[in-house]
Amino acid sequence: MSDMQHTTLGLLGGGQLGRMFTSAARTMGYDVVVLDPDPTSPAAHFATRHLCAPFDDPAALETMAQSCAAVTTEFENAPAASLEFLARRCPVRPAPSAVAIAQNRIQEKTFFRDQGFPVGPFAVARDPAEFRLALADVKFPAIIKTARFGYDGKGQYRVQTPQEALAVLADHPQVLPAVIETLVPLRLEISVLLARGADGQVALWPIAENRHRDGILDLTIAPARIREELAARAGKIATEIAERLDYVGVLAVEFFVTGIDTLFVNEMAPRPHNSGHYTLDACVTSQFEQQVRTLCGLPLGNPELLRPAAMVNLLGDLWANGTPPWEAIFQEPDAKLHLYGKQAPRPGRKMGHFTVLGNSASEALEKALRLRAALGMPD
Ligand SMILES: Nc1ncnc2c1ncn2[C@@H]1O[C@H](COP(=O)(O)OP(=O)(O)O)[C@@H](O)[C@H]1O
Ligand SMILES: [Mg+2]
Repeated sequence: MSDMQHTTLGLLGGGQLGRMFTSAARTMGYDVVVLDPDPTSPAAHFATRHLCAPFDDPAALETMAQSCAAVTTEFENAPAASLEFLARRCPVRPAPSAVAIAQNRIQEKTFFRDQGFPVGPFAVARDPAEFRLALADVKFPAIIKTARFGYDGKGQYRVQTPQEALAVLADHPQVLPAVIETLVPLRLEISVLLARGADGQVALWPIAENRHRDGILDLTIAPARIREELAARAGKIATEIAERLDYVGVLAVEFFVTGIDTLFVNEMAPRPHNSGHYTLDACVTSQFEQQVRTLCGLPLGNPELLRPAAMVNLLGDLWANGTPPWEAIFQEPDAKLHLYGKQAPRPGRKMGHFTVLGNSASEALEKALRLRAALGMPD
């Protein structure tokens, strides 16, 4: 696959992560076939070919298997059977087995705990009987998270008491199977982004510091303003997770930090991550280029940070009064605007992001806060 001419890569899922992967792959000379049922898929704009079909469509999967040298995914909910079908025909990276663990919170949390990684207190609730038992195990306040298909805080319910938890179950029986986690007193949230090649080589980007709003990532600061020792510990845990999974591709691990630098692993994403978007503008090698490299068996690129950065997500809410005043961003010479080409700016929907560079993480953060205010975003 070192001959880049006419080599075709396959992508399951055509959202913004897929769009940025496709852009990187095409920049490097690859053709990209995207499978996504959405006719307005953001990735399709950049793709060589868009297979507009369900993720388990046999004809589309066959076309992909025939035309692609290797296949990757941009979301964790690609059907296991589709990934396994493709994996019998060509390299699929990351492997379906790793994606399967990450796509189910019960398997994911249990994997972390069984492998000795630090996780916060949680209990598994597969059915109503187990749910009731779990309520005795967990301290409150707690958070109930559906095991599958939750993202951006969706499928999550915060509850103060076991009674409230039972009321949630009565109103939303489809939350099961679920995990129930004790709410951890967060001092900070950080994420570790890494790429691991088929040869076991690992490249770590600087740790990112993340701020959420209503369960959705709002802002990322890189490098995280944390002690060296904490950064090293988080990097080591994420690397070990990748090694235990024999992971090939880009992996993100989200952590909670409490008290005096106690670390809990929250969840992992078997793909590039929203908190790694800053790598597009601030690092020698972006997370999307690295995804291409790991997929194609190329050596890893240098993940080094060229300048500190802050990234702000632009949600559909910002379009309430029409097109946002982008001049504010274009007037800042160290800012970069990224829009995903999505048609309907629904509230909470990720429409784009901007990254701004600074001489320090704190200066980048200050600029980002100034720009978000200029766009009329609430602080
Ligand atoms: N156990 C917890 N304690 C404290 N805050 C939490 C807990 N679980 C989730 N949160 C908050 O909700 C956010 C989203 O939860 P997460 O498990 O990462 O789900 P998602 O898949 O939606 O990102 C977290 O980044 C964090 O801010
Ligand atoms: Mg998360």
